[in-house]
Amino acid sequence: MTGKSDIAQMSEAEARDELARLAGLLAQANQAYHTEDAPEISDAEYDALKRRNTEIESFFPDLKRVDSPSDQVGAAPAEGFGKITHAIPMLSLGNAFEDADVTEFDARIRKYLGLTIDAALDYTAEPKIDGLSLSLRYENGRLIHAATRGDGETGENVTENARTITEIPQQIADAPEVLEVRGEVYMSHADFEALNARQVEAGDKVFANPRNAAAGSLRQLDVTVTRARPLRFFAYAWGELSEPLAETQMEAIRRLEVFGFTINELTAICDGPQSLIDHYRMIEEQRATLGYDIDGVVYKVNRLDLQARLGFRATTPRWAVAHKFPAELAWTRLEAIDIQVGRTGALSPVARLQPVTVGGVVVSNATLHNEDYIQGRDSKGETIRGGKDIRIGDWVQVYRAGDVIPKVADVDLSKRPEEAVLYEFPTTCPECGSDAIREEGDAVRRCTGGLICPAQAMEKLKHFVSRKAFDIEGLGAKQIEMFYDDPDLPIRAPVDIFTLAERDAGNLNKLKNRHGWGAQSAENLFAAIEEKRRIPLARLIFGLGIRHVGEVAAKDLALHFGGWTVLTEAVDTARPAALAHRAGEEAVERERIAAADEGRRARIKETRDKAIAERDVPKAAQAAWDDLIGIDGIGATVGLSLSDALANEEERAAINALVARLEVEAPAAPAKESPVAGKTVVFTGTLEKMTRAEAKARAEALGAKVSGSVSGKTDILVAGPGAGSKAKKAADLGVETIDEDAWLALIEGL
Ligand code: IVH
Repeated sequence: MTGKSDIAQMSEAEARDELARLAGLLAQANQAYHTEDAPEISDAEYDALKRRNTEIESFFPDLKRVDSPSDQVGAAPAEGFGKITHAIPMLSLGNAFEDADVTEFDARIRKYLGLTIDAALDYTAEPKIDGLSLSLRYENGRLIHAATRGDGETGENVTENARTITEIPQQIADAPEVLEVRGEVYMSHADFEALNARQVEAGDKVFANPRNAAAGSLRQLDVTVTRARPLRFFAYAWGELSEPLAETQMEAIRRLEVFGFTINELTAICDGPQSLIDHYRMIEEQRATLGYDIDGVVYKVNRLDLQARLGFRATTPRWAVAHKFPAELAWTRLEAIDIQVGRTGALSPVARLQPVTVGGVVVSNATLHNEDYIQGRDSKGETIRGGKDIRIGDWVQVYRAGDVIPKVADVDLSKRPEEAVLYEFPTTCPECGSDAIREEGDAVRRCTGGLICPAQAMEKLKHFVSRKAFDIEGLGAKQIEMFYDDPDLPIRAPVDIFTLAERDAGNLNKLKNRHGWGAQSAENLFAAIEEKRRIPLARLIFGLGIRHVGEVAAKDLALHFGGWTVLTEAVDTARPAALAHRAGEEAVERERIAAADEGRRARIKETRDKAIAERDVPKAAQAAWDDLIGIDGIGATVGLSLSDALANEEERAAINALVARLEVEAPAAPAKESPVAGKTVVFTGTLEKMTRAEAKARAEALGAKVSGSVSGKTDILVAGPGAGSKAKKAADLGVETIDEDAWLALIEGL
């Protein structure tokens, strides 16, 4: 696609072709956006196509098509939705699948709060609605805006659409000044059936399930479409409040009901795991007759003061859990096994299936996990499925639980075709031909090609631009695939993204003349890239796609180190200790193989210590390593992987080149003024008012770093009764030492 100037040069034939092409592209974009709720191009790209169409039409009025996109009203996503940053993030829930997980959930909470098994502890239990969550903000009783969950921090502004939902009050009497109500938008079974019947009649696409129908209906740019769709809303939670709603979850929900919201009548108070499970069974029995989809039961600690003490992990509250219903199952034919190479080189077998509907969704691919799984063994080498292996041509059972990727669960040997042969897992990478090896204790076979393997490089890039990493608008997986092999503007490493505009300029700005591109879309892409040159440290760390360094670990590392240079210096310093650690583990592994008798434990420890001692690790390295793996949630596996990635020369060079072009933002300071922000705190001895876990979580929430050992870097030692060597060391080092009460006084009210 080219700019305006080329239109004047066009022949009629060229203009006609171009109008036909644009009509096709716009129709496809409309279809993807409106009916499939899965936009394929950005709003900016859409606008550029539409503008070009209008420009050509004004030059060649006679060529205007009968189905001209410029005559189509309502369907145009003119602006797209605005964004709304949630005052309080919208989180997701941890899952429980079995009864034992529920008992464990209760035990975890008691442990955290320091409650004994027989102390009273109530929960609420309510259906988990299978729709999409929505946050409604009321100020002085008036609905101000409505936002979807989005990535949890920022959602889409769907206020006008939300106003069409009758179960969402526009005005609330006697509400707190600020009131954010959260809940689920869903569609009832009856409304869903009726909608699909209307869709069929109109020749429009039918929705796969009520959830998709609800999402597609709410995320409509044309509010008249949303108005015609019968959406409903259950309120079950809240965000920002100018004053507390109540003292318990149940009372708070009842207040939402008084405000005019619909709350779920199957919400009950339960006094422990058994009562929760009983309520779960009761709801499960009614599932088919409820008239709307639910996918489990949500348990929440009833007392809100306890919820506040329990707080949150990175993306889920400690005080709630979703007890999911068992997954749905279906049988189908396995037609082929393909191997996909992931960003860490993992060879993942994917089952290509004869399409089958599982729980309202058509499934044609499912994961087969790894080679052991195909052969009928689990990660510990024990048999699964009674040891039955899976072969191409087999009749297999597929299941899916919620959003989880479908899996192959079982195989029916009575239907196995005679010609089916044992599947041989490749030992070389199907993408680059490098050896694919399995390390001791690893269930996964990995390509050793590193960055020379195009699949690894490509997957790393896709991860780099993904939503939770750099999230570059207009540069998704599809565009990465296109640019990877581009003869003029290849993107082979993350840094190439940030040199793209420069290289295009040096290349006579050819990008905008490409098929499917134009001046506007090229400019938009460059602007979107430019926008991400400033990047939060946690996103950078996560974006690098280092094995074991997920979103949570990246956040923890960012909070702990505060800057890229500090982080790399610490990891570099720790390198000898990291290697010693690995040597220790390897020595232990050898010991394990060699011996299996009683005195083993002692010998193993001795072996590890000896192997580490032989390495003669510098003190600073040991200290840096201990600090790194002492970060809550990090540990040796993440530490080693990070250390390996940064010590790998090629990878480090690629990372350095990238970082040189970025402006890395330090993590935001904690919201409240805190006297302990940035301080390193050590807890020792017995704490009486709270458990160690709670003390640590609260300190970290206030911006303190919690460390396990006292060193010159320690700012405060909080010592309870029975404090021993740490208190002595702190005294020797002149570290401020306070007791638990003084600590609580220090952080009081925060
Ligand atoms: S409570 C801080 N209660 O499940 C926890 N969530 O997997 C806030 N959901 O994003 C959520 N029914 O969309 C809660 N009764 C219920 C729910 C519910 C459905 C959804 C919600 C959330 C997701 C978490």
